[in-house]
Amino acid sequence: MKRTLITNIGLLASPRGISAQAGSAQGQIVKIRNAHVLAEDGLITHVGAGLVGQDKMQGAVVIDAEGKLVTPGLVDAHTHLVFGGWRAHEMQMKLAGVPYLKILEEGGGILSTVRETRAASAGALEEKARAALHEMLRLGTTTCETKSGYGLNLEDEIKQLEVTRSLNGSQPVQLVSTLMAAHAVPEEYRHDRRAYMDLVIQEIIPAAAEKGLADFCDVFCETGVFSAGESREILLAARKHGLGLKIHADELTAIGGSELAGEIGAVSAEHLIAITQTGISALAKGGVIACLLPATSFYLDKPYAPARDMITAGVPVAVATDFNPGSCPGLNLQLCVNLACLKYKMTPEEVLTAVTLNAAAAIGLAEDIGSIEPGKQADLVIWDAPNLDFLCYRFGSNLARAIIKKGRAAAEI
Ligand code: NIG
Ligand code: FE
Repeated sequence: MKRTLITNIGLLASPRGISAQAGSAQGQIVKIRNAHVLAEDGLITHVGAGLVGQDKMQGAVVIDAEGKLVTPGLVDAHTHLVFGGWRAHEMQMKLAGVPYLKILEEGGGILSTVRETRAASAGALEEKARAALHEMLRLGTTTCETKSGYGLNLEDEIKQLEVTRSLNGSQPVQLVSTLMAAHAVPEEYRHDRRAYMDLVIQEIIPAAAEKGLADFCDVFCETGVFSAGESREILLAARKHGLGLKIHADELTAIGGSELAGEIGAVSAEHLIAITQTGISALAKGGVIACLLPATSFYLDKPYAPARDMITAGVPVAVATDFNPGSCPGLNLQLCVNLACLKYKMTPEEVLTAVTLNAAAAIGLAEDIGSIEPGKQADLVIWDAPNLDFLCYRFGSNLARAIIKKGRAAAEI
């Protein structure tokens, strides 16, 4: 048996439970001073305070937290990790005020990344994403969801998903895979969107599900991309193939995405910058997790989603990066912690739940990760911070000092 003992933890802070926490429960954090955590074969078997018994030390690799803050490993519940190229060439257009959806409408944006992703080999995509994961791990992210959606045909969507599969297990960050063939209508179907819908429903979803390459299906429900009706059709087809449902809803315009998420009982609705009160009620009623992406608001210079209204309405809130080459070319979930606190006005405790347990629930892993409790995976971060306030207060520096994944030291900074 492989044992790891993390000792001398100044403050251990963690949410509790195996499901998403909503309302006032989102801000309820267990705090233990002078704590230690024992992991055996990658799972937490003991969380305690005070002196460590000799029995716990036996044969254990000891990691000294040096009196610092320890939290669960961060969970990034929304990224578009596997893509070819970058989009720095859009910077001048962006500065000139050309809107994000206008760039897409003219064949740029997502469609420009589609061209580069199709042209790239699986090997090249994998090495690029591996480098990003290495950076994410060092910033404290131990689990990450990633979406396809830059292939937009059978072959290249499968290529992206296979890259994700190959990365999962061949580096420390655990991955959850989402099929997002409905990320945009590709150029070759510009004049026949129905034919693309049929391709997604009849070929791409069944193939991804049959090969076991995706856990979830996501749709970009947005003006000029997929309508609420089209999104419903795609997501219901995905459900028939056993996939969990996610939806990019109300990112820029409210066209019924949140209402749809509530109606079909999606696991999560993402973005929600433009959500209405009716949309918030629909999420609450449907038990949908709101996955908010503050770095995208920052990068697109858009308003911040009304997180407090959602928490008041009893909607569990998760916070993620949205890492992608267009609307958020950044993968630092620590920055999202700062933004969630300052811009969403969430308390540091609510934010911790948002980037750990609620994020884990948004990707179907709340029973395994997202809190420091016996029975869960030993995924932890030792922070160069004395408490949660400090984590929300400092920004722009990497405060992660050591990252532990499944009981093993995965990175030391
Ligand atoms: O979540 N909104 C749609 N998809 C991504 C952006 C992808 C891109 O611009 O390449 C997002 O913001
Ligand atoms: Fe996204």
